[in-house]
Amino acid sequence: MTGSDTAASRIDTSRPHPARVYDWWLGGKDNYPVDEELARRILAVDGTVVRGARANRRFMHRAVRAVAEAGVRQFLDIGTGIPTEPNLHQVAQGVAPEAKVVYADNDPIVLRHAEALLRGTAEGSTDYVHADVRDVDTLLARAAESLDLDRPVALSLVALTHYLSADPAGDDVHGLVKRYVDALPPGSHLILSQVTPDLNPEAIEKAAENFRRSGTPFFPRPLAEFSRFFDGLELLGPGVIPVTGWRPEPVDVAAQAEGIVPVYAGVARKP
Ligand SMILES: C[S@@+](CC[C@H](N)C(=O)[O-])C[C@H]1O[C@@H](n2cnc3c(N)ncnc32)[C@H](O)[C@@H]1O
Repeated sequence: MTGSDTAASRIDTSRPHPARVYDWWLGGKDNYPVDEELARRILAVDGTVVRGARANRRFMHRAVRAVAEAGVRQFLDIGTGIPTEPNLHQVAQGVAPEAKVVYADNDPIVLRHAEALLRGTAEGSTDYVHADVRDVDTLLARAAESLDLDRPVALSLVALTHYLSADPAGDDVHGLVKRYVDALPPGSHLILSQVTPDLNPEAIEKAAENFRRSGTPFFPRPLAEFSRFFDGLELLGPGVIPVTGWRPEPVDVAAQAEGIVPVYAGVARKP
């Protein structure tokens, strides 16, 4: 595990953090009153967020399973979040016990709970890197301590990119994702989901406004902007789609009946 032990002591409970707000929506206990307050405020303006968080998490499970079943044995998960079982390595190693997983997040609370992410199979490996997705070179160098970056890697950016701007003078989120994809060999996969304003624009704008007012920039993306993440890649069926529609299982079909969740998802292979 890389990252300083003192990072845990830097947990800032004076303002909400995305990992902890999301944890509250998922019914977790690793959040503080400021996080609960924002989570409730957003739930009040967008009644889909709890279903959305659960649906997003289930998408991660289905996508990881599909990619592992396609033969990929290495996973780099950036924006991991607070551990919620099953975690990505449990899904991947459930298909292939020898699967290797590197998790990364920039929130000290995730680092504090990273131990739970490191209990994998004896045949495989799990590691945790405390880093910001924008530090591409550092993050890839640390990932390369566990993963062979000359062999296919599944890069998982699940519910992360809506915290990053598309401004070319700022985060340049599309350029950022491309830098990771360019660094990985053919046969690698990109697993991605993020919030969209397309399906429920007024509620999403209010939710985004709440995030921004609390100090967290938030960038919902319409279909064309979301689809651009997959430029140059081969989308797996059914393509880019609202999250509950990506290879749904019965629980997702039931969730669809409860209404649309404003999150797009897609999985693609690097040719
Ligand atoms: C909504 S949670 C998603 C967790 C998990 N991927 C999932 O979908 O269940 C977003 C995560 O991204 C992390 N995050 C946000 N900005 C980040 C950045 N610049 N670098 C690394 N992680 C970041 C947050 O700390 C949080 O844990």
